[in-house]
Amino acid sequence: MTIRDLQDEIIRLKKEKNICILAHAYQGQDIWEVADYIGDSFGLSQKAAEVQADTVIMCGVRFMAETVKILSPQKTVFLANPIAGCPMADQMDKDLIAQMKEDMPGFTVVAYINTTAELKTVCDVCVTSSSAVKIIRNIPNDKILFIPDCNLGDWVSKQVPEKKIELVRGGCPTHLRMTKRDVERARKQHPKAEILMHPECHPSIVALADFVGSTTEIMSYAEKSTNKEYVIATENSIVEHLQFKCPNKSFYPLSKDCICHNMSATTLIDVYRTVKGTGGEEIIMSDELITSSRKCIDEMLRLGQ
Ligand code: 13P
Ligand code: SF4
Repeated sequence: MTIRDLQDEIIRLKKEKNICILAHAYQGQDIWEVADYIGDSFGLSQKAAEVQADTVIMCGVRFMAETVKILSPQKTVFLANPIAGCPMADQMDKDLIAQMKEDMPGFTVVAYINTTAELKTVCDVCVTSSSAVKIIRNIPNDKILFIPDCNLGDWVSKQVPEKKIELVRGGCPTHLRMTKRDVERARKQHPKAEILMHPECHPSIVALADFVGSTTEIMSYAEKSTNKEYVIATENSIVEHLQFKCPNKSFYPLSKDCICHNMSATTLIDVYRTVKGTGGEEIIMSDELITSSRKCIDEMLRLGQ
């Protein structure tokens, strides 16, 4: 069987079974080509709330599949590869945040969407990298406790200096692999290139970027800009996607090590098996967990419109 044969079979089966395939931007090109929607975490959440199909397959990581289930509990939701988690989502303990809430009365707890459903039950509002600035500006409260990504939190606090934003130490181990030395080397090797960076990177290198944004914001910036060369400072799958989208432009990874092994765990075979009904993991959550974790996601969708 070739990749093309497998893709054709996935497309045939998903139509026959009324299945919607959602893919995060970090998935491979072969998965992009069979997906019904590709986007960043905010776009995927919006889609999750409005999807019409009976079954949804998430090609991404576990918290993304949980978000689909929380927003569309009547649907059957699968994570295409059960081992695909996000290490950042597991960094914070629910009891610790509940305790911090008690210790910091008057603070609104804002959680990056890269958190477990359980942790979301003690948070007030969720954000994603593309919606965080807008949502935090829209929150009536000026006192914010931002968890779990202190790098994204630092970037947001610089965009919204009028608010008091307390950070808790945590972050994405993949984006933290990129260093100042990588930026210096890239500037030397590609002096005409613009550096486009994800806000999950360390503040010391975010300060050196030409543009900072979510995965889809980085892609639309590169597509629209007239510049011919770009250094991409996020998961390296985006370099390949941009090369397909803009064959007349050149894209270079800031670091060859910026690979998220969780995001790349899902293969086309996993998608095929899940569509066929012999693979993936169905996301099962109690009604109570769905109801209590949903509030902060609904708030995100309301404030991020
Ligand atoms: P966005 O797609 O929202 O930019 O998030 C990146 C990410 O790391 C998702 O896990
Ligand atoms: Fe988690 Fe970072 Fe991988 Fe995104 S890139 S899934 S934040 S580890």
